[in-house]
Amino acid sequence: MVADPIAQAVCVLRAGGLVAVPTETVYGLAADARNEVAVSRIFQVKGRPARHPLIVHLADAAALDAWVREVPTIARDLARRFWPGPLTLVLRRDESVSPLITGGQDTIAVRVPRHPLTLDLLRQLDSGIAAPSANPFGAVSPTRAEDVREMFDKSGGVDYVLDGGDCAVGIESTILDLSGDRPAVLRPGGITREVLEEAIGCDLGGSHVSGPRVPGQHPRHYSPRARVVLSKPEDLAASIDAALARGSKVGVIVPDGLVLKPHGRMLAIAAPSSPEELARRLYRWFRDFDRAQCDVIVAALPEERGLGSAIADRLRRAAANKASGLS
Ligand code: TXA
Ligand code: MG
Repeated sequence: MVADPIAQAVCVLRAGGLVAVPTETVYGLAADARNEVAVSRIFQVKGRPARHPLIVHLADAAALDAWVREVPTIARDLARRFWPGPLTLVLRRDESVSPLITGGQDTIAVRVPRHPLTLDLLRQLDSGIAAPSANPFGAVSPTRAEDVREMFDKSGGVDYVLDGGDCAVGIESTILDLSGDRPAVLRPGGITREVLEEAIGCDLGGSHVSGPRVPGQHPRHYSPRARVVLSKPEDLAASIDAALARGSKVGVIVPDGLVLKPHGRMLAIAAPSSPEELARRLYRWFRDFDRAQCDVIVAALPEERGLGSAIADRLRRAAANKASGLS
């Protein structure tokens, strides 16, 4: 008899193992957040620097009080409106939380993911799970169970993969810092700045990003093997021709609705029909292009509003000069 996958995952987590879990954004590499040995294994397996804090995923907003000191009203309101969903809140941590999770900081990042299997798992586990995206540090985040297996099968370290199908949002959660004087977006993501501003009733335009606290904000992150070249939509044809002229095998991500005929060594074309589809499939296209052995990915930058801001952020980081970023 095949054991129930959720029961199996819970069993692995209780024993201090690591489980890849599906969320609506990307797959996470999870450990029981109350087990310090298990949490430290996440850093080893990912090759992640210890000072980079992890997000704790909870079953519901009621669980906040066990992890957060003095939950502010704004956090309760946002949780009611956006959880389960792709919004991570940075709040003051409860003193019971391991500094391993928070990178030694006085704050903790928390969210309730919108995926039925992982919510079920969290309820059965009756704890929180610390989970960064389930990829080696600096690599493209996985949006399917097979992506996780492909990245970790050889190196090992992941004890169980809970297969929850394709991620519905496809890029990481928005991180909103509520621990300071005013709310600040630390990472754009699945919930747009415009929607948050409307919900909070204030302008988030002055948000600043504090470098080392958010590794997703490193210049090079979310990166495929191929070199990523960004292009204004109107310059796309010229950018493709320039890459082809250098003899590169080229993959292309075109703006919504544009039709492009493959030619020369242009191998693959990704043509999203909406920003939502572009977000959902972006990382998968990066992987497809790598698999097709493209040397260069030419990507049109979407308009930077709504979900387009988070997509442009990920494209920029993928395109950052290899020499200046992560190794
Ligand atoms: O959608 C997501 O957020 C996915 C899924 C698995 O939930 N997770 C994810 O985890 O993207 P990760 O580790 O790849 O990115 C977590 C981000 C990092 O940029 C980290 O610095 C930030 O959250 N973070 C965690 N704790 C923080 C804190 N106390 N203060 C500021 N940023 C924090
Ligand atoms: Mg990540």
